[in-house]
Amino acid sequence: MPLPQKGRPKEEIFAELERFKARDLDWKAGRVWAYVYNPGDEVREVVHRAYTMFLAENALDPTVFPSLLRLETEVVRTVADLLRGDEDVVGHITTGGTESNLLAVKTARDWARTHRPEVAQPEMVLPITAHGSFHKAAHYLGVRPVVVEVNPHTFQVEPETMRAAVTPNTILLVASAPNWSQGVIDPIPGIAEIAREKGLLFHVDACVGGFYLSFLRRMGYPVPDFDFAVPGVTSISADLHKYGYAAKGASTVLYRNREIRRYQLFACAETTAYTLVNTTVLSSKSGGPMAGAWAVLNYLGEEGFCHIVRTVHEATRRLIQGIHEIPELRVLGEPAMCLFSFTSDQINVFQLADAMARRGWYIQAQPSTPVTPRSLHISVNYGNAHQVDALLADLREAVEEVKRATPIDTENVRAMVAWALGSPDPQEAFRQLMGTVGIEGGELPEELALINEILDLLPDPLADALLIDYFNNLYV
Ligand SMILES: Cc1ncc(COP(=O)(O)O)c(C=O)c1O
Repeated sequence: MPLPQKGRPKEEIFAELERFKARDLDWKAGRVWAYVYNPGDEVREVVHRAYTMFLAENALDPTVFPSLLRLETEVVRTVADLLRGDEDVVGHITTGGTESNLLAVKTARDWARTHRPEVAQPEMVLPITAHGSFHKAAHYLGVRPVVVEVNPHTFQVEPETMRAAVTPNTILLVASAPNWSQGVIDPIPGIAEIAREKGLLFHVDACVGGFYLSFLRRMGYPVPDFDFAVPGVTSISADLHKYGYAAKGASTVLYRNREIRRYQLFACAETTAYTLVNTTVLSSKSGGPMAGAWAVLNYLGEEGFCHIVRTVHEATRRLIQGIHEIPELRVLGEPAMCLFSFTSDQINVFQLADAMARRGWYIQAQPSTPVTPRSLHISVNYGNAHQVDALLADLREAVEEVKRATPIDTENVRAMVAWALGSPDPQEAFRQLMGTVGIEGGELPEELALINEILDLLPDPLADALLIDYFNNLYV
């Protein structure tokens, strides 16, 4: 597709951009239960305006744009205060939870290179419920992930399980507050105790929970300790662009003190160009996300956030209660805030997700693991909280529809998977298999149940390879 010879009129450009959205699900109407965190039109307008005011400013160089240094400093100070850090706590705005977690792992790796030079192959211990960004960090940074199981009833990791996985190569412990999959908080104080005892760094992934849980606590709800009030916690990630309701491209990573944080930074004076000093992964970066985040924190204030959290908490309680009342469904564990998952022993939840998609809802499917059943995930936010009753009504209807539908023949799928696994080139065999169920490069599938079924039965490394293959073909 060559560039148009002449520029096109702006009305045409905006109209076409609008048309590109035709197949997207309607998050503005509150029908998407993940991915978008909507504080409402008025607040979004404030974020939007602040974001565009700083779109062109470049956070690469605070000496040229001191405004961005100020924005970042104030946001980090506010987050440190929410997370009960003292004045020693420092941090940065990053582009998202993945970057925050990646930087926490990089910092731990480089801290260990100085303080534990005897460690040749660094390891981090993390529960199976920890977010995939830690595996990505491990992959990028040459750190070995040592994954431990969680309690199959509470979905929390037990501190003693973490302890048992620590070796002389361990440099970092990781836990979640809460995890994405079941929305439960790991026992942070117990894990922190082990970190202290063994002189390890300990990162708490509060990407989803950092803001929400802090406001819940401030309103008097019982919230287990997960933040800098726990001695032994050395870093925390908390996303501005999730329950901080900022525009995307904004998270924070905070450290107990500057001595640890210094290992995050990178400088390079070795080229013919300007001396490069980067606090985070990116070099050039827009001031937009920072300004959007600063604006939403200041526009809502504690009162505004508490109103949002109270509304969302109440909606979540009603939704969980409503799901409990559908006999075929059950909620997993005891969710700590406004995200949770549910499963079924009677119907195929992957088919249920498709039945809900046909009704215009997006609910995320989660594959099974040795300790968790396949499930559907729901994240409630201020923009979908008003849809709880409508969602429940459709969920009841969709459960009945799936009960009447032809079930997926799991045995047959299992046999196909076994055939492909036994073929001389399993990856090619699976490519063919996926072709027969309608997933081929370049096309987005409409129905996902059968695909999810196959992926769920595959060994994880093969599922990863297939997905990479598929995305490699989907994008140009
Ligand atoms: C617990 C947790 N950590 C980290 C992340 C990664 O965040 P992002 O998608 O902003 O990179 C997520 C995303 O859902 C998450 O749930």
